[in-house]
Parts: sequence; C-alpha cells; structure tokens
Amino acid sequence: MASSKELECAKYEVDDEGIAWVTFNRPEKRNAMSPQLHYDMVEIIAELENLVDAKLIVITGAGESWSAGMDLREFFRATDNDPAARHKSYWAHRQWTQFITASNKATIAMVNGYCFGGAFTALAACDIVITADDATFGLSEVNWGILPGGNVSKVFSDLTNNRNAMFYAMTGRTFDGPKAVEMGVATLSVPKDKLREEVLIIARELMEKAPMVLAYTKQAVRNVGDMDMNMAYEYLATKNTALFGIDPEGTRSKGMTEFLDNKTYRPGLGPVKRDD
Ligand code: ACO
Repeated sequence: MASSKELECAKYEVDDEGIAWVTFNRPEKRNAMSPQLHYDMVEIIAELENLVDAKLIVITGAGESWSAGMDLREFFRATDNDPAARHKSYWAHRQWTQFITASNKATIAMVNGYCFGGAFTALAACDIVITADDATFGLSEVNWGILPGGNVSKVFSDLTNNRNAMFYAMTGRTFDGPKAVEMGVATLSVPKDKLREEVLIIARELMEKAPMVLAYTKQAVRNVGDMDMNMAYEYLATKNTALFGIDPEGTRSKGMTEFLDNKTYRPGLGPVKRDD
C-alpha cells in the first residue's frame, strides 16, 4: 500500500495501483455526517488532491451504509443554539464537497448501502456513481421537518428531471440502485457482490487515460452545464487550447502521430498508449 490515514470518522488507503479508497467510517451511526466527519473529509480530500501516488479517488462507506446524511444529533440538534459551531461544520461540508467537484482526479462514489439527504451533495460531486442494486436512496428531509438544504435540492434537481426531483423531495420515498440509474442519479447499478469489481474495472479504464486530458474533460463537462451556447463554444475552445499547452504527456500530438502516421491504433477504440 502506497499510503494511508485513519482519522476519527473517515480514512483512506491508496493501493499499489494508485486508487485512493476513502471511507466514511462511522458504521455504527450508518456513516451519518457529524461535524468531525466533515473536518476529517476536508483534511483527506485536500491531502489526496496533492498526493502524487493517488491517481483516482473512490468514496465509500464502512458497514451497510454509504451515508445516512447529516447527523441529526451532532450536526443539527447540538448546534441549534450555536450558529458559529453550525457554520463551522456547514462550511467544512461545503468545502470538501466542493473540493471533490473541483478535483483534477477522477472521483467515483461506490454506494454500498443507505444514501440519504445531505449525502446527495457528496454523491453529486463525484464524477461517476456505481451503486449496489439494493442500496437505498432517499430525500428524507420532508419526513422529519426540514427541506433538502445543504444544496441537496439544487444538486438533485440538476441530476434528474424536475418531475423526479419534486416527487422524491415531496414524498421522501426511497428508491434503489436501478431506479437511481434510471433517474440519472447513479451511473451504473450492480449486484452488491460485484460492486468493488465493477468499480475496479472503471477505475482501471480511467487510469489508462492521460491524467491532464481526463481532468480537463471532466471540468469541461461539469462547467458547460451552466453556460449558454455561445459561452460554451468560447470556453471549450479556450480550454482545449490550454490543454494542448499544458498536457505534460503531449497526448494530442502522440495520438495523431500514432493514428495518422504510424497507424498503430484507432482513437475510436481506446486511448493512445502512454509512456511507461
Ligand atoms: N443522524 C444521526 N444519527 C443517525 C443517523 C443520522 N442521520 N442515521 C443513523 N443514525 C444513528 C441512529 O441514531 C443509531 O444510533 P444509536 O445506535 O446510538 O441509537 C444508529 O445510527 C443506527 O441507526 P438505526 O436507525 O438503528 O439503523 P437502521 O439500520 O435500523 O436504519 C437508517 C438505518 C434507515 C439509515 C436510519 O438510521 C435512518 O433513517 N437514519 C436517518 C436517515 C436520514 O433521514 N438522514 C438525514 C437526511 S436529511 C439531511 O441529511 C439534511
């Protein structure tokens, strides 16, 4: 193992392939997000972003839950009369989920069980979501007296269509992995005993791509969503020019040479081979 860290509520291990396995680690509380979990995640995600050995980040949960959302006791009740403490953990939650969104590394949510409420912000921040068929998703906020804040209403509406967002936010009904895929909330749903295997397949596939090209690609796809057509044209042209200049592997030139001159491979069928 290349490196690892275990904090009070979260941990990571970077394996020999360069996959950083990040785990919400409060299984006895179904990985509910306490203030400490948020502080731990800020530390972990910030550290992994600059850890050269960590090429890709997978986020999962210990035990039978991905995350049961915000901790009602520690995040909410304990800070109801302490706005400064509430802001501190709210800010930490916002920070680490935005760190994931902005990460240059590919991020995969490996959803092994419950995913409720506030957990959707982290889920949406990940590039790819692989879920177990029998995972349970839900916007339970309405059930216990709040609306889906912490940007859950926003990210959920962005992921799925308005009819789905409204229905699941208003009813608080749960849904499983296949339904999450059907709605656009998850990427793939597989039987639980195949979950890690499927994540590994996708992680390895992503790690065959040139890292800078992958980083720019994910940033481009994420950012154009909020742009009008003209802005997107301009942004993507500029971003591609920047990528050409900054990619240390010179992937574009290599790809063209191998395809057009050497005729060694087909860009439509896979990535150009990277230098060892
Ligand atoms: N906040 C605080 N504690 C929690 C949370 C939570 N979100 N979720 C679970 N726990 C705690 C329970 O209080 C319990 O603690 P205890 O052992 O000290 O009594 C422990 O985790 C186990 O929970 P159980 O309910 O006993 O576990 P079970 O497997 O039967 O049910 C389930 C799991 C369905 C996830 C249930 O715990 C639950 O409904 N949790 C709340 C889910 C939720 O609505 N989250 C908030 C979304 S809103 C938001 O995030 C803003």
